[in-house]
Amino acid sequence: MEEDQKLLFAVNGERYELYSVDPSITLLEFLRSETQYKGVKLGCGEGGCGACVVLLSKYDPINDQIEEFTVSSCLTLLCSIHGCSITTTEGLGNSKDGFHPIHQRFSGFHASQCGFCTPGFCMSLFSALVNAEKTQRPNPPAGFSKLKVSEGEKAISGNLCRCTGYRPIVDVCKSFASDVDMEDLGLNSFWRKGEKADINIDKFPFYSPNGVCTFPDFLINELKSPKQCFSNLYMKNSDNVRISKLGLTFNSNSVSIRSRERHWYSPITIEELQKLFKYKKTEEENRIKLIVGNTGAGIYKELDHYDTYIDISHIPELSVIRRDSSGIEIGAAVTISKSIKALRGEKGLVFTKIADHMSQVASEFVRNTASLGGNLIMAQRNPFPSDIATILLAAGSSVNIHTGSEIVMLTLEQFLERPPCNSKTLLLSIRIPSWDRLRNFSSEFNGSIDNNPINGTILLFETYRAAPRPLGNAVSYLNAGILAWVSTNRKSEDSVLESLQLAFGAYGTEHAIRARSVEEFLAGKPITVAVLLEAITMLRAIIIPKEGTLSPAYRSSLAVGFFFDFLRPFVKGLTDTEKHLQISDVVASAKTPNGGLNRSINGVADMFPENGNCYVQYDNLVRLGPILSAKQVVEVSTEYYPVGEPIKKAGAELQASGEAVFVDDIPSPKDCLHGAFICSTRPLARVKGIEFKTSLASQRIVTLISAKDIPRGGENIGSQSIFGTEPLFADDLAQFAGQPLGFVIAETQRYANMVANLATVDYDTENLEPPILTVEEAVERSSFFEVPSFLSPKHVGDLSKGMAEADHKILSAEIKLGSQYYFYMETQTAMAIPDEDNCMVVYSSTQCPASAQRVIAKCLGIPDHNVRVITRRVGGGFGGKALRSLPVATACALAAYKLRRPVRVYLDRKTDMIMAGGRHPMKINYTVGFKSDGKITALHIDLLINAGISEDISPIMPWNMVGALKKYNWGAFSVDFKVCKTNHSSKSAMRAPGEVQASFIAEAIVEHVASTLSIEADFVRRKNLHTFQSLNLFYEGSAGEPVEYTLPLVLDKLAKSSSLHHRNEIIKQFNNCNKWKKRGISCVPIVHEVTLRPTPGKVSVLNDGSIVVEVGGIELGQGLWTKVKQMTAFALSRLWSGGSQDILHRIRVIQADTLSLVQGGFTAGSTTSESSCEAVRLACNVLVERLLPLKERLQEQMDALSWDTLVLQANLQAVNLSASAYWVPDYSSMQYLNFGAAVSEFNLFHWAPLSTTEHHSSQNSQYKRLKEAKDGLITTILRHGHPYGSLPNQWTRINMVEVDLLTGAPTILQTDITYDCGQSLNPAVDLGQIEGAFVQGLGFFMLEEYATNSDGLVVSEGTWTYKVPTVDTIPKQFNVEVLNSGHHQKRVLSSKASGEPPLLLAVSVYCATREAIKEARKEHFSCNGLDGSSPIFQMDVPATMPVIKELCGLDNVERYLEKLLPHQ
Ligand SMILES: Cc1cc2nc3c(=O)[nH]c(=O)nc-3n(C[C@H](O)[C@H](O)[C@H](O)COP(=O)(O)OP(=O)(O)OC[C@H]3O[C@@H](n4cnc5c(N)ncnc54)[C@H](O)[C@@H]3O)c2cc1C
Ligand code: FES
Ligand code: FES
Repeated sequence: MEEDQKLLFAVNGERYELYSVDPSITLLEFLRSETQYKGVKLGCGEGGCGACVVLLSKYDPINDQIEEFTVSSCLTLLCSIHGCSITTTEGLGNSKDGFHPIHQRFSGFHASQCGFCTPGFCMSLFSALVNAEKTQRPNPPAGFSKLKVSEGEKAISGNLCRCTGYRPIVDVCKSFASDVDMEDLGLNSFWRKGEKADINIDKFPFYSPNGVCTFPDFLINELKSPKQCFSNLYMKNSDNVRISKLGLTFNSNSVSIRSRERHWYSPITIEELQKLFKYKKTEEENRIKLIVGNTGAGIYKELDHYDTYIDISHIPELSVIRRDSSGIEIGAAVTISKSIKALRGEKGLVFTKIADHMSQVASEFVRNTASLGGNLIMAQRNPFPSDIATILLAAGSSVNIHTGSEIVMLTLEQFLERPPCNSKTLLLSIRIPSWDRLRNFSSEFNGSIDNNPINGTILLFETYRAAPRPLGNAVSYLNAGILAWVSTNRKSEDSVLESLQLAFGAYGTEHAIRARSVEEFLAGKPITVAVLLEAITMLRAIIIPKEGTLSPAYRSSLAVGFFFDFLRPFVKGLTDTEKHLQISDVVASAKTPNGGLNRSINGVADMFPENGNCYVQYDNLVRLGPILSAKQVVEVSTEYYPVGEPIKKAGAELQASGEAVFVDDIPSPKDCLHGAFICSTRPLARVKGIEFKTSLASQRIVTLISAKDIPRGGENIGSQSIFGTEPLFADDLAQFAGQPLGFVIAETQRYANMVANLATVDYDTENLEPPILTVEEAVERSSFFEVPSFLSPKHVGDLSKGMAEADHKILSAEIKLGSQYYFYMETQTAMAIPDEDNCMVVYSSTQCPASAQRVIAKCLGIPDHNVRVITRRVGGGFGGKALRSLPVATACALAAYKLRRPVRVYLDRKTDMIMAGGRHPMKINYTVGFKSDGKITALHIDLLINAGISEDISPIMPWNMVGALKKYNWGAFSVDFKVCKTNHSSKSAMRAPGEVQASFIAEAIVEHVASTLSIEADFVRRKNLHTFQSLNLFYEGSAGEPVEYTLPLVLDKLAKSSSLHHRNEIIKQFNNCNKWKKRGISCVPIVHEVTLRPTPGKVSVLNDGSIVVEVGGIELGQGLWTKVKQMTAFALSRLWSGGSQDILHRIRVIQADTLSLVQGGFTAGSTTSESSCEAVRLACNVLVERLLPLKERLQEQMDALSWDTLVLQANLQAVNLSASAYWVPDYSSMQYLNFGAAVSEFNLFHWAPLSTTEHHSSQNSQYKRLKEAKDGLITTILRHGHPYGSLPNQWTRINMVEVDLLTGAPTILQTDITYDCGQSLNPAVDLGQIEGAFVQGLGFFMLEEYATNSDGLVVSEGTWTYKVPTVDTIPKQFNVEVLNSGHHQKRVLSSKASGEPPLLLAVSVYCATREAIKEARKEHFSCNGLDGSSPIFQMDVPATMPVIKELCGLDNVERYLEKLLPHQ
């Protein structure tokens, strides 16, 4: 085997040839550190976010074809792209040569906010477009692609965006699809409202499929050249026969690359691989890593580097796909994507279902490189919750393995049960039998079938998975595969289970298992309720998650749910409907070629004619197919033109094309070092020492920075607010788990991270008090932070009087709320560069550069003017990059100061999640008095807020909370609060800090009152809505004028636009008719108080007439720069003779620089955009004042005076063309209220069985319909038109909505929001804020569990465990109206805030969920005469699937069957 070959590939058409490569380096690291392409972003490093997605193209010289697919560059190893071409978003287009239509449409549809996620989305969409072009579909009209709407949506389902809420991104994808209804596309800058009549494709930036070359000719030529060393790359195409025909010899073609002492090999035969194994000594075995896609590294992270990486994907035996009549054999290195394709090409139910299920595994950009073998090996070696192992087990698959000396064939079950295989065991292939033809081949399968099927039986196969997100990259709580042969006893017409294969996995088991005893018990039995109940009891005894598994009871109940779901169509006596549709129908149809269900299906379809006014409601398509629809209503005001225009976000194209520079994109200066934090894992412990295990990475440590390195005169300070400070590092005593103990400095970020991970800390807790970890302990030990009196909320009215007036009282009810993590896509990052004379320049991704400057200067013991903090843009902040960014910038500065070298850090996601702090957890106790008609007369609340270790902004929390709590007229209101100091990381501001919790508390109280009185919660809401008088009483000083109280108007408009009343009726009907599926709806108002703060602004006109603007506010994605540009144009328009639209192009808002514009303050609280605008307006006014006289003088002398001439003359006449202003809001009106309301409709929805592809979904849905028709589940037929007149065409066809209680899986069917933005400064920007905030709130209420262990150490530490909303979890119909409520004289050009208040609206989803659960409980508990039917129950936040299912009854299936038993 030759050594030292070259690695050749192309990036965006450029040739790269490398001879020495560190084999552990990922494609992402290479691109970001060795090329100019920074469009690939690091969001997670574990395949879970899509920020790093690139297009990988491979050339097949034999067929002269190029294969193109997305990969996650954070997992793909550089050496594995030998001979490939990479396209990043920069390769599509750029600002110099012209942007790609994808970039332009992201901008035009307002689909990029902070922009950190945008390049990844662009590449996912680009790949979908490229691959759609390769289909045989008819050519689309010019400007469109062959892509379909459904494919466009799916293409982005693995990408995360934390800002936009996804709706506009979906519009971008749809806009390329040939089947798009242009009318259905959302707000954009390509056409205007009112123009819809003539909208057509010409309005869009033109798309042509041939615009981008993804595989350069030079690389094709080199690949064709026989001289090239990498002819083995052909082998990846896996067609064994073709290769041998060509007579290629492989032995000299293997690739080996090395760097220092590490190696990369790509053997092309098993013999070569064996030689390599022999060559390595036994003690080195553990340092060898076989890889195919390396996606396993996203799960089992590499703690240290391996010596040798062996890429086995070039070995032909591992890439075969062989078919014969007995089944299909898939090589272990075949990717999941290719396996799906191959299985879809096969006939037969089992193959189809497996393919469908596989398309739910991970996301497309992972599946494209993830191999089947890699998955099974992980499942064999580790307790990995594999889907693939489970479904293949159910299908009776077998594997071939090479153990070094022999090839062994094993059933998959035998393979999984062996001891974990060593690193030299090679999985060769996986064989899936062909069940449709199995009757003739059953003897081959080593006992994988227990009963020979008999004639007249039908085969059924179904797979299931329940996961927090249906499509968006989430492993299952439990998965299952069930295969059965069912026959009918002709006499009794009973269904008989001839044989059954039941596989379950991922529930907290070592590996997937077969439920053998259940299988044996059921074999040959007719399926009666009694038999089913007994089988379920046996199943429960098998599916027992191992200790430590989260939600164990839920997982067991899922197994029962899926099992029941599979068998229920065949259970005798289960429902009346069954009598109408006998299993014999199914059996009779078994002879049809495609799985045998056609005849019966037709029968079902006949029962539900889809004509004119009649719609059948149906589930899977709604839940799994993310087909989204939306409506936006915005009113554009031209009064302050161009303020008020929905112009596109400044720099959005740059963000899409990857040219926008974030802190980590700034090239490293010479000699730059990298840092990583070592954090305490203990809540309160003395740190005796830190040691580093000897490892390859530890050899690259430069030093460890700790509190001891603070220079004389400096302070150990990492953060500071007006309330107090926080140390940068623990001194000798660690105060909380997650506290930085030190900052390891190494040559690269990866080495620094690895070393920090491998550090061992010696702790000692002797004679220390136990830590305070709960608010109760804080109360016991009086551990509180002081709240200044001006922030103590005032009581309203007379509480005792209010209580005395009450007919009913709820005393001391308790609620607990957890935390939420920011999940900005760009983690915390900074770079510090020492400058002359003890100065420091720090680039920081921060929301408050001025605070960073102060803290750094204090830490280093130097004056503030020695510290320049620069922030251009932030990749998402949400409050997390306010004070929590300061320790990161300060640690860099301290290290740089000490080492006299530049130091930078980009936190890995895990460290970020551990250090971040997040939203405040809290405990709430309330006592409420109310009348029998629902009028609340008095409310008292006790709040215990968990602030963590330092003050941060926590003393402001009571104030914030009370502001949002007072949204209802409680009669009398009082609050007592304690801000508790605990041994947790400091909790900090997170978008709507305190307000979101408070809004939730208010709703919880309303629900409690309504449930107690057995009346509708919406009625209680209305009953307690403020009049202007009561509003004024509760919000003394900030209620404004009566005309400004728009909440009643908002609610009325919303009730009308959302058909609230009508939908309520429909839902009642639906719930009456459906047993396993329930729906809920809720309409929730919000009131959110905001405060304006003083802000600086500076406007300068340069010689050429271009304008530079500096503001205190930071561009976080919220569109601040865009609004500031509009305001500048408006404010200078008096000087400008042309339209002010033209000035917009001459204006540039530039990065914040603490030495250029002082008193910048911080960007938070939703009002920074408007105050920055106002500051800029003042500065512009100064310029106008200076220039207007000149303009008038000049105009007298010349006819037309251009802006350029005016500027030229001003320069000649020495007019000062730079003006600064510091806007200080009027004290009397610096606080004001924001109003909005949302209606959300929620389904308790059953996700499985799985069906995703259009081609196959009909078969699946038919089967499902058959089953459900049989047990009476398709019961809702909506006559007289669709209830939601606004639903798009496709929805009127898709059968909508059933609710299922078997899994607890939620679906938000529809959300309607009306939000009062005043006179919006930019309705497109505000709409984006509303939608994005709502979806982030949705995450808080429904998905995001920011869990800690018993020491308070965060254990939700990555995308595997922390699930933010994805495109498939947002409302299926998402309607937003941005209400223009006219003039608000004391506001900035009559505008109002939009950044945080809409987040509160997401509580409507939670409330709708409760409504659905209430219905479920009524039915399932009351039918058994059990207590749970009480409408009063607590539901945790987030209301995850386990929470929901538990409330619906973990044993609801058994209860239901038990109830049926006596009637049998
Ligand atoms: C974000 C993400 C989400 C995911 N979600 C799911 C999910 O929902 N359900 C699910 O089932 N899986 C999921 N996976 C797992 C995914 O399917 C596996 O990571 C993938 O299949 C592994 O294949 P690979 O080629 O990348 O393996 P690699 O990472 O290259 O290898 C994995 C391990 O297997 C060994 N190995 C690989 N091939 C062989 C072979 N032929 N013989 C011997 N040893 C071998 C390697 O040495 C290594 O130890 C997810 C993965 C990611 C990254
Ligand atoms: S950074 Fe690669 S998927 Fe998140
Ligand atoms: S725009 Fe998507 S994460 Fe910010």
